[in-house]
Amino acid sequence: MSVEIPIKRITAPEITARKGREPIVSLTAYHSHTAAIADNYVDFLLVGDSLGMVMHGYETTVPVPLDLMIMHGRAVVRGAKRALVVVDMPFGSYEESPSVAFRNGARIMKETDCGAVKLEGGARMAETISFLVERGIPVMAHIGLTPQSVNVLGGFKSQGREKDEWAALEADAKAVSEAGAFAVVLEAIAEPLAARISRAITIPTIGIGASAACDGQILVMEDMLGLSPRVPKFVKQFGNIGAAIESAIAGYADEVRNRRFPAKEHTYAMKGEGGGGTKAAAKPGTTDGGATKKTKKTRR
Ligand code: KIV
Repeated sequence: MSVEIPIKRITAPEITARKGREPIVSLTAYHSHTAAIADNYVDFLLVGDSLGMVMHGYETTVPVPLDLMIMHGRAVVRGAKRALVVVDMPFGSYEESPSVAFRNGARIMKETDCGAVKLEGGARMAETISFLVERGIPVMAHIGLTPQSVNVLGGFKSQGREKDEWAALEADAKAVSEAGAFAVVLEAIAEPLAARISRAITIPTIGIGASAACDGQILVMEDMLGLSPRVPKFVKQFGNIGAAIESAIAGYADEVRNRRFPAKEHTYAMKGEGGGGTKAAAKPGTTDGGATKKTKKTRR
């Protein structure tokens, strides 16, 4: 009998405890396979509502439905075994009242098995954050550029670049920290203010376009992989997956058009005729086609 040793998943309080020790590393993830790849390298994965823009072609995050967040949240939790998974509460699912926020937050936690939720807003959301945390839902806050308010802000604009904006943003950071949030995302905030906020509060600040002064960093995975056609100024591209995908698809199209694919080794012969016929059918999700397992199952 073999005993499986469970892999311990990082918790929200462990993320809080990292402040002042080591930088917190995080990325967004929307699917199982990218979550599984990132899992070894990040402390938490955010199923951000940016998935509406990155994956579903919406112009803003405003139309993203709760059910979509739950579906992607489930996929990421299945793919990542170690990282804390945080799921965004989409626009309209929490602003109305603390009890509406609790009902929807509890749905996200129960249906995805994630470890925390994230919501946008500072002082105005403090009461809701306390309400959720007191009832068992760890909350990550998000201040600065809050994309769900894009229609009020008048665009995706950087924040805190004029000194007269500082007091309100600092008050937001203090309010969410005192309300019990375990960390706060600072989005598109000028460096001196991000540094000041990071010093002033006891929870970690997670920067996206908010400088190295933050306690941790997050990027949208597709942006840093070079898959998004347009990216904000603060994104560094660590890869060029878009070009790799295009070149693979162009190669496939070319080989199909010129009848070079599928070749003999991708083709089933009749049993007993050798060649491709001895190869077992592919098992979904394997790259060796399940050939080494001698399975009789066919893919389709
Ligand atoms: O939805 C998202 O991807 C986010 C990040 C920008 C932090 O909230």
